[in-house]
Amino acid sequence: MTPNISLAPFQGITTKVYRNAFARHFPGLDRAFAPFISGVHPEKVNLSLFDDVIPVEDNPVETIPQFVSIDSKEVLAVAATLAGEGYDHINWNMGCPFSRLANKQRGCGILPFPDTIRLLLDNIMPHIPLKISIKTRLGYRNPDELEKVLEVLNDYPIHELIIHPRIGLQRYKGDTNPEGFSRYLEMSRIPVTYNGDIFHATRYRELQSRFPSVKSWMVGRGALINPFLPAQIKGIHLTDSEKRERIAAFGEEVFSGIGNRVKNEKKLMGQMKAVWYYMNGVFSGGIQYFHAMKVCEDSQSYRKFADDLIQLPFASDNEIEDYWKHGLKHI
Ligand SMILES: Cc1cc2nc3c(=O)[nH]c(=O)nc-3n(C[C@H](O)[C@H](O)[C@H](O)COP(=O)(O)O)c2cc1C
Repeated sequence: MTPNISLAPFQGITTKVYRNAFARHFPGLDRAFAPFISGVHPEKVNLSLFDDVIPVEDNPVETIPQFVSIDSKEVLAVAATLAGEGYDHINWNMGCPFSRLANKQRGCGILPFPDTIRLLLDNIMPHIPLKISIKTRLGYRNPDELEKVLEVLNDYPIHELIIHPRIGLQRYKGDTNPEGFSRYLEMSRIPVTYNGDIFHATRYRELQSRFPSVKSWMVGRGALINPFLPAQIKGIHLTDSEKRERIAAFGEEVFSGIGNRVKNEKKLMGQMKAVWYYMNGVFSGGIQYFHAMKVCEDSQSYRKFADDLIQLPFASDNEIEDYWKHGLKHI
């Protein structure tokens, strides 16, 4: 059976421009989750907070908006707004590990409080006008926390549970915990999606044979480095010249799309560097060009480095894994 492949949300990177260009140029993607929306006032909804996901017709791939909140009124206001815009599925972020949110019981900071989650779901579920899924971790401080949370979630018609098998205190560092994932996969009455450290198709296949019942997989940094990862997982073959053309077209679309939104060239450069920070890793030796690109301050020199970078040979799986392990700074 063909797996369902989702692109993970990345605040500041996988914006609408990025997601749309990704879906248009790189085959194999089934869905894209948008970075979280927060700070919505239920009494007076500020639609500009939803700019990244509306209008729904702009999405070339099924897109699932995400929110972070522990206020049931806010959740219902977000849900009503998005349902009104034509969405039928939203995602609740119970995984964000950053203390700015977690200290206020938001993101994965809510995981030690299963009773609060039950209370919220009691208030939300009878009124919510669309499907709701949850993206979570094994816990905030220890990997046992999800057990009590899952006992709660299992009592409600949650559409899907995306599990990133780390705890919040690890942030995005250290080993994932597939044993922890396995424990909750068995326990969950909700369909489960796996997310975490799928850096190449071989890694996907190892996980897939370990968890044959999982049909849905979310790829994050692995796809930001190698945007052909969804295609490779699905056995879709592209020649090197097709891949180069697609990366060039993707880069141009993101560059002009961001350029239309941010008029300040320095900001534009900053956002393009965030894209290439990951994607240079798809090329063998790409890191050298990325170091050079880091000092670019204008579009002309940026373009030169990007043009040179995409002429490099493509990295092997081992090189991509090496870039993941030693080239990326996991935050
Ligand atoms: C810079 C950054 C921003 C992120 N923003 C979000 C976000 O807005 N919502 C979310 O659910 N996860 C967010 N994540 C987590 C990713 O979606 C994903 O779960 C994580 O990177 C693990 O998957 P991976 O190992 O495949 O990258 C973010 C991660 C990073 C590094």
